[in-house]
Parts: sequence; structure tokens; C-alpha cells
Amino acid sequence: MTSLLTPRDDYRGSGLVFPDGFTFGSATASYQIEGAAAEDGRTPSIWDTFSKTPGRVWNGDTGDVACDHYHRVDEDLDLMSDLGLEAYRFSIAWPRIVPAASGEVNQAGIDFYSRLVDGLLERGIRPVATLYHWDLPQYLEDAGGWTSRATTDAFERYAEIMGTALGDRVHTWTTLNEPWCSAYLGYGQGGHAPGRHEPASALSAVHHLNLAHGRALQALRATSTGDPDYSVTLNFHVLRGQGDGAAEAMRRIDALANRAFTGPMLRGEYPADLLEDTASVTDWGFVQDGDLATIAQPIDVLGVNYYSTATVRLWDGVSPKQQNDGHKGAAGGTAWPGSDQLVEFVEQPGPYTAMGWNIAPEGLEELLVSLSEQFPEQALMVTENGAAFEDEVAADGAVHDVERTDYLRRHFTAAHRAIERGVDLRGYFVWSLLDNFEWGYGYAKRFGIVRVDFDDLARTVKDSGLWYRELIRTRTVEG
Ligand code: FCB
Repeated sequence: MTSLLTPRDDYRGSGLVFPDGFTFGSATASYQIEGAAAEDGRTPSIWDTFSKTPGRVWNGDTGDVACDHYHRVDEDLDLMSDLGLEAYRFSIAWPRIVPAASGEVNQAGIDFYSRLVDGLLERGIRPVATLYHWDLPQYLEDAGGWTSRATTDAFERYAEIMGTALGDRVHTWTTLNEPWCSAYLGYGQGGHAPGRHEPASALSAVHHLNLAHGRALQALRATSTGDPDYSVTLNFHVLRGQGDGAAEAMRRIDALANRAFTGPMLRGEYPADLLEDTASVTDWGFVQDGDLATIAQPIDVLGVNYYSTATVRLWDGVSPKQQNDGHKGAAGGTAWPGSDQLVEFVEQPGPYTAMGWNIAPEGLEELLVSLSEQFPEQALMVTENGAAFEDEVAADGAVHDVERTDYLRRHFTAAHRAIERGVDLRGYFVWSLLDNFEWGYGYAKRFGIVRVDFDDLARTVKDSGLWYRELIRTRTVEG
């Protein structure tokens, strides 16, 4: 589907006022910013192992130091306050909390997040805590990782520990961030930790992540003494189709990427076409009686991460296959078990960000409207949106990141249009507060609205951060 752009459709809105109650935030993730990888009892996660394996991450970068947020948390809290953030989405490093297979709880790890939460509340910023943004303890991966059902037991227990520790103060609990990446990139395509190339394992990881989500929600609800909201964050594929088999190609990828998660989580079932498409890869024997009911716990808000669109078509099986899936690069395996020999991902029309991702604000509006049509009762929140560009530091030390500001303005405009069309959109978190460790790309890609100098770790608010501060202050999108 291509859209004909009229002048109104450059998505550069002006004078658009966001409703009261709409939350403006920013997001980060533990491994990407914390550093202090071996301090206060933390043990390695799969990302420590992966990043230290030669050839896995650009430039051999690791999260050992990252933004050193672990030691600079007060400075970073003050930054958030200066920007006027209303909420902060962070993630908890599981290996700080339960560092060893013995299951012993590490109080120093809990204390760190407890201080962070208190620091946010003191500044009037709502804590939005994600339990799993990809840093699986290495000892769990050694025992099978997300292909093992025992990992869901461990996750439930970890959720119980965190619910007990922070459930009196956290505003929103998020179980998982982008399980699509954990399962398909981690176990199928291999571009993410643990870097496995096993199509059947990717699907078993899908199920165990779904199950972990449901079990964690139960544990968080049982232990949180405050009145938190409960949620999960998914990265939806907004698809365009090409050629004769466009509809079939889109259906297949929609099943694997989107409905493999929304099906069990929000409808209590795996889509029949997904099971059929993947029958040659697995019989889904890892789904046990009662699992689907466990997974389908109610959530208060569905987190939506959106960056760009993807175009697919049926592959003719002869010409060289394009695999521009626009997300995190190719790494030899397949992110599309059961459909990798049938579907190809083709070049997106530009312009592009520094990740090579196409800029398509209309995709965000379309996604939000489509989700609210599919799940009319479900409140939504954009838990990530943002862009990497080649930032330059001007002579006066400022970063005039006009492209990022423009990207954000256009996507906030898209969100505003979705609200005008009746979508129950509760908030928006810019990815990211800080330049940080961008997974397979290391420190080469900068998404922050605050620059981090990776030599001296100094923070500088970029022009996009100043623009965002004004948006939050006035609640109005301006040029
Ligand atoms: C998302 C991840 C986040 C960051 C952005 C750019 O897939 O959740 O950690 O890497 O992409």
C-alpha cells in the first residue's frame, strides 16, 4: 500500500495540543546505559557474553561502561527533571537481582532500582519499569535460555521479587520489551544475544516469552501493594506489500511478527494460520494445557514501539533474495521460520535515518488506529519512538540535530492524529534519553535527545531535547 502525500501529509503539524492526562516520557534500557557490569554482585547476562564474542558487535563495543548511568544516576535524574519528563521508562537488569543459579537475591541490585524509583518520585516523574529488556542471566541461557520452560519459572520468581521490592511505588510495570527481538533475532537470525540460528528454537522462545509474560503479570499483581498499571511492550511490523502475492506475504509476516504475540496475550490463542505456516518447523508441542489462559492476563495498557515500516513480497525462489528487513541487520539465520523461503523484504522508499530505517510517520498513525480497531478496549502507549542520526557537535558544544527534531515532530503529529481519530493513546516515550549502546551497532548509532561523550561521559542536551522540553511544557507540537 502506498499513500499519496498531499501537503498536509508531511506530518509537520503545528499548534497541536495534547490532552490532559497524556504522558510525555523518555526511555532507556539497563544494558544500554548502566555500565558497572561487574559491580555490586551483578553477573554476566547474555549481552555481556555476546558483546565479548569477536565479530558480534561493531567495533567490539560492550556495555561494560556504557553511559555509566549506574554511578551517575543522580545527574541523570536531574537531567530528566530539567527536561520536564513526566515519566521515565527504564529496565531492570535481571542479573543484578538474581545473579546466580542458586537463586539468591542480591540486595545491592534491588537497592539501586529502589533509589532510582525514589529519585524519580521525588522529582515528580512516574517510574515505568520493564522487567526484561533483553539481559537474560547467562546461567539461564546455559540451561537452555528461552527455549526452556524453566526460564519462565525463574522469570516468575524474579517478577515476584521485584513486585515485592518496588510494587508499592512503580507507576507502570512492563513485563517484556519486544519479545519479537528476543525470540527471532536471538534464537533464529542470530544478530542479537544469544546469537543462535535455530528456527524451531525461535518459535519455542516465542511461546516461553509469552508464558513468562503471563506468569510475571500474575506474580506482579500478587505482590504489588500500590496500584500500578500492567503492560507489555511489542514492536509491531507495519507492513506494505508488493507484487502479486503481496497480501499473502503480508499475512505471513503479520502472523509471525505481530499476531504471534497479540494472539495469545490479548485473545488467548495462537492464530491458526501461524501454526499452519510453521508446521514444517515445529509442532508447537511446547504449548501445554493451561498456558494460553495463563498468558492472556488482562493488561491496562499496551506498549507500542515504532520506528519504520517494512515492505514484503513473495519471493520467486530464483532471483537473488533481498533481505532488507530494516530492523537490526542480517546475521545469517532466519528471523522468519516457516516463511523465510517464501517472503523477501525489499528496499523501503526513503528518506532514512542513520540506521537505514525509512522515515514514515504515517505508519505510526496507521498502526495506532489499526490496533485500536483490533482491540477496541485496549489503551495504548507509544513506549519507544526516535531516531539515530550522525550528530555533530558545534563549536559552542551544542548539537543542532534538526533531523531528529523533525523526526520527533512528525511522529508526535502522527500520534496526535491517531488521538483525533479516537485512539485511546495514553502517552509517548522518546527513545532515547541518552545516546547509548545500540546492541549490535555498539556506540556507533546515537538515538539520544541528550548527547553522551563516550570519552568523558559528559551529557549535553541536544536541540531535540530542548524542543521536547518545550513540547512537554506547552503540551503543544510546534515547528
Ligand atoms: C528497539 C529497542 C531499543 C533500541 C531501539 C532503537 O528495538 O527496544 O532498545 O535499541 O530499538
